[in-house]
Amino acid sequence: MSKLLIKGGSSLRGEYRVKAAKNAVLPIIAASLLTNEKCEIENVPNITDINNMLKIMRSLGANVSFEESVIEIESKEPLRFSVPTELAKELRSSVFLLGPVLARIGKAAVAYPGGCDIGVRPLDIHIKGLQEMGIAVEESHGVIYCDATRLKGADIMLDFPSVGATENLMMVASLAKGRTRIRNAAKEPEITDLQNFINAMGGKVSGAGGSTIVIDGVKELHGCHYRPIPDRIVAGTLLIAAATCGGKISLFDSQPEHIEPLLFKLSKSSCVLDVRSDKITLIAERRGRNFDKLETQPYPGFPTDLQSPMMTLMAVSEGTGVIVENIFETRFRIVRELIKMGARITVKDRTAIVRGVKDLEGAAVSAGDLRGGAALVIAGMKAEGYTTIENARHIDRGYERIEDIMNDFGADIKRLQ
Ligand code: EPZ
Repeated sequence: MSKLLIKGGSSLRGEYRVKAAKNAVLPIIAASLLTNEKCEIENVPNITDINNMLKIMRSLGANVSFEESVIEIESKEPLRFSVPTELAKELRSSVFLLGPVLARIGKAAVAYPGGCDIGVRPLDIHIKGLQEMGIAVEESHGVIYCDATRLKGADIMLDFPSVGATENLMMVASLAKGRTRIRNAAKEPEITDLQNFINAMGGKVSGAGGSTIVIDGVKELHGCHYRPIPDRIVAGTLLIAAATCGGKISLFDSQPEHIEPLLFKLSKSSCVLDVRSDKITLIAERRGRNFDKLETQPYPGFPTDLQSPMMTLMAVSEGTGVIVENIFETRFRIVRELIKMGARITVKDRTAIVRGVKDLEGAAVSAGDLRGGAALVIAGMKAEGYTTIENARHIDRGYERIEDIMNDFGADIKRLQ
């Protein structure tokens, strides 16, 4: 079921209740391994990355159920310490298991992870931090083997505020002897959510959201019931879709403070925004002016995961805009697909120059990664005529049946196969 057919030209009207954030739930699922008691996680979207992560948890020996948006996980001994290669290849988040498996079992083996093809995505920052905590790390034949016999708290400085490395180190430190400091830590809201989850299990973590996180290891952690933060990237994608196609949409359960850079940019174009603590309404009635410059940065800067959807909006805005992608080195694969639809974009290294056109034309395009695929859906809804999107499975990794979400807003999307 991996091809979408979109009839373009509809504006979007309606409302949507945003579910839990994929990038909060994935590390939280991994963190549930830190206790042998049951953890419940609610309001979870039924998306491929979540289901693949649960498959990995089952392969380690955890008891897992996922019904009616609620995940229940209970991982009692004996547990396996090795993540099957074919599963690790499915998603980047398999690397999040290194920390909790090490903390719980004392050793771990995880194949180099897969996930979106948006860059080399090395693990050097993860590995350097683990080694500073006394963990022996060996890599052979694409598998990372770790031994945590000498695990202890440490003072760690990250070379780059890596989200995954910050999360891995928070998890392994929560059961390590002594205090761990993670400096130059990632500040994304999902990091704070992981802190809150570990503390709900009886952990001692503080400082998340700032540049230094302090973790005091405890002897053991207990189960808990948790509702993760809403998905700021899904919320942002839908707002950009409405800004691109025109119309009026309202999002509930979204936390506007998590997408301030986007809301600021959209308010500077032709959109009218009404922002409340639990509801964001966007009205777009005419073609907006292009943004002079869009630069992606670690949080609280503009999120790299919304760069592709923004490129679609900029491709049909008035005037020329420049995009600089500072986080991933190959996050412009969507450009050649948008050009097939009549966009006028040129790329040099990490910079894209986007000359806005009045209309896009429907075409046969292919999704290469999750957020690029979502951006092509927006382009297809805006374009004149019909668009087909191959490899829609990439989109299903982070959006729960995107065709249903958009059709509820008035789009015309069919899933062909
Ligand atoms: C997380 O990926 C997210 N994924 C990504 O979302 C998101 O784009 C990214 O953070 C940045 O916000 C999940 O949370 C599951 P990083 P992660 O480690 O942890 C380099 C989506 O669409 N780096 O912060 O992999 C890396 O190559 C996905 O939902 C190293 O060099 O991101 C990249 O250039 C895509 N060495 C930069 O840092 C390392 O050891 C940011 O990576 C680790 C990272």
